Amino acid sequence: MTSKETARPLRVLQLTDPHLMANADGALLGVNTRDSLDAVITEVLRSHGQPDLILATGDLAQDGSEEAYRVLADRLGAFRCESAWIAGNHDQVASLRAVAARCGADRRHIIQGGWQFILLDSSVSGKVHGELAESELDFLAEMLEQHPEMPALITLHHHPVDIGTDWMANIGLKNREDFWQLVDRFPQVKIVLWGHIHQTHEQQRNGVKLLASPSTCIQFTSGSSKFSVEDLAPGYRWFELQSSGNFSTEVCRALDFDFELDQTSSGY
Ligand SMILES: [Fe+2]
Repeated sequence: MTSKETARPLRVLQLTDPHLMANADGALLGVNTRDSLDAVITEVLRSHGQPDLILATGDLAQDGSEEAYRVLADRLGAFRCESAWIAGNHDQVASLRAVAARCGADRRHIIQGGWQFILLDSSVSGKVHGELAESELDFLAEMLEQHPEMPALITLHHHPVDIGTDWMANIGLKNREDFWQLVDRFPQVKIVLWGHIHQTHEQQRNGVKLLASPSTCIQFTSGSSKFSVEDLAPGYRWFELQSSGNFSTEVCRALDFDFELDQTSSGY
């Protein structure tokens, strides 16, 4: 530990792609998405305990209903800390923002534990792929310029790099060159984190750790050329962030969750 580090790291939980629905029986490929989220939350509390901050990184609702977002808010009541929500391709941005605003989950820039968190909306209405509007890129630049000394975590829904899974190659972030050109100007960026790909992924790029994580419901097969789901338990990512910029992270799964995956589906 360096002199800049606080004794206790900031504990950050990423929950991604819960695909909740208005209907309590709502399931994705045979997996009830409320039940799988419940199992993940139980696992978080069992394995790690209370986080200091939760990042919910898109596809929060499968059907875009306000009820689905209310269910998320209700489930996150298991935690004592605040959460921050971003939209994915399945979300309805207006409904998400309405519920997020009511429960204080609409912050897009957070300073906590000596880190800054910048949450970007890469969703494009009616499309599966992502794109960062000029206004999002400007917002990112402004926040990074304002806090040049503070380690930064940037999060968005769509993958901003090739992940080696062919069928997802065209549904990531379209204007990723613009994103990286900007990020490359700011050495304080330590982590870029996303959802969308329903699998664990880890890369290093110019000193930045690039991370993606399992969904809290179904998992896509890593490296597959066509749509394919993998019989892996729902999961989450946990971070321990030191104010010096050092950090550790791990993915955990709710291995006790009992489910039967419909492997015959050609999409979700
Ligand atoms: Fe998703």
